[in-house]
Amino acid sequence: MDKIVALCKRRGFIYPSSEIYGGIAGFWDYGPLGVELKNNIKREWWKKMVYEREDVVGLDAAIIMNPKVWEASGHVQGFVDPLVECKSCHNRFRADKIVDFTCPKCGQKGKFTEPKKFNLLTEVYLGVTEPKQKAYLRGEITQGVFVNFQNVISSSRVKIPFGIAQIGKAFRNEITPGNFTYRSREFEQMELEYFIKPKEKEGEKTFVYWKEQRINWYKSLGIKSESLRFRKHADDERAHYARAAYDIEYKAPFGWSEFEGIHHRGDWDLGRHKLNYKDLETGEEYTPWVIETSGGVDRTALFFLLDAYSEEDKRVVLKIHPRLAPYKVAVFPLLANNQELVEKAKEVYRLLRASFFTAWDDRGNIGKRYFAQDEIGTPFCVTIDYVTIEDDSVTVRNRDTMKQERISIDKLKAYVKEKLEV
Ligand code: GAP
Repeated sequence: MDKIVALCKRRGFIYPSSEIYGGIAGFWDYGPLGVELKNNIKREWWKKMVYEREDVVGLDAAIIMNPKVWEASGHVQGFVDPLVECKSCHNRFRADKIVDFTCPKCGQKGKFTEPKKFNLLTEVYLGVTEPKQKAYLRGEITQGVFVNFQNVISSSRVKIPFGIAQIGKAFRNEITPGNFTYRSREFEQMELEYFIKPKEKEGEKTFVYWKEQRINWYKSLGIKSESLRFRKHADDERAHYARAAYDIEYKAPFGWSEFEGIHHRGDWDLGRHKLNYKDLETGEEYTPWVIETSGGVDRTALFFLLDAYSEEDKRVVLKIHPRLAPYKVAVFPLLANNQELVEKAKEVYRLLRASFFTAWDDRGNIGKRYFAQDEIGTPFCVTIDYVTIEDDSVTVRNRDTMKQERISIDKLKAYVKEKLEV
């Protein structure tokens, strides 16, 4: 974990927020490579969850909503973490994280206060004259979908069963942010709310279907099966809205940890917002049930980085899926002081850059440049050498195998494109 944190800072993936003023707990900034990784994750998710399906549409709702939304949804009352305080060192912990009644900070056993509940919603105040209007930064992106349920139905052609997908920021006043970006106060979620008829069988079938879809998505992007598992929530652990809940967990260095939640929300939300669905063909009217898949972009980025990180003989290499890698390809002139090579390399760089996010490097020797790209997961490095000047071919070196092939420049784009489709 320490190595990933250091790599993220050194190579521009993730920095502590407002670091020059001492930082602020639970907030992180994504640097030039981090923003690419996050965008790639979001793009892959949107492709799978919206573009490849006929039954899902997208949405981008506002972060701040009428506070009545959060009263109706139960978050003002129910969105709480029970915390206990160690009577010895006075640190506070989530009650469910205390193992064997032992304080994780000072090691004292069995000296805790009774659990107290803390609301996780972050308050904001709007307007310039007193009294200002109290509102909340959304604690989950989900409610924006429910309050737009009628808008989406009346402005698009969706019919039950259908889903609404959304990606966006959420905020939680976490008392114990930690494990790098894992538990932050500002983070991004990618969620699907899938609406179905309120029937037990259909609910079960859809729940199982989405569980499988979601775990397979992580596998398809390279997370090893043995590092993934489902965990069923116990009855007293489920969020106030959930009839059933499973987490997809990743085997992180700090233990099995939640990636994504699959929740059967029943008619909790639409019921609380008093929203119904009318089937125009049959005239049937009912409150649909909702199966939700709710993943975190930041946790996904962190777990993909952890899973991809490997140390080999002489190099550190991020074996991240090429579609998630920040740079797809890097271009090097063999020698930085040979004008002919540099000009030719610039030509190739511009050609590739028009289609793929491409790095340029002309510092140090080629070996060093390879290793600098390996560390940030660039799948292909293209070198322009003297043979290039003669026959328009370049060497392409593969990140994972370290093998090199000679490819003609006119086939280069197609070569990279094909590898990215795998
Ligand atoms: N709409 C349902 C919902 O918000 P959740 O299980 O509370 O469910 C879903 O959150 C996902 O959001 C989590 O699996 C995680 O990936 C991400 N998430 C939640 N709290 C987070 C935090 N404090 N920091 C980073 N990601 C978080």
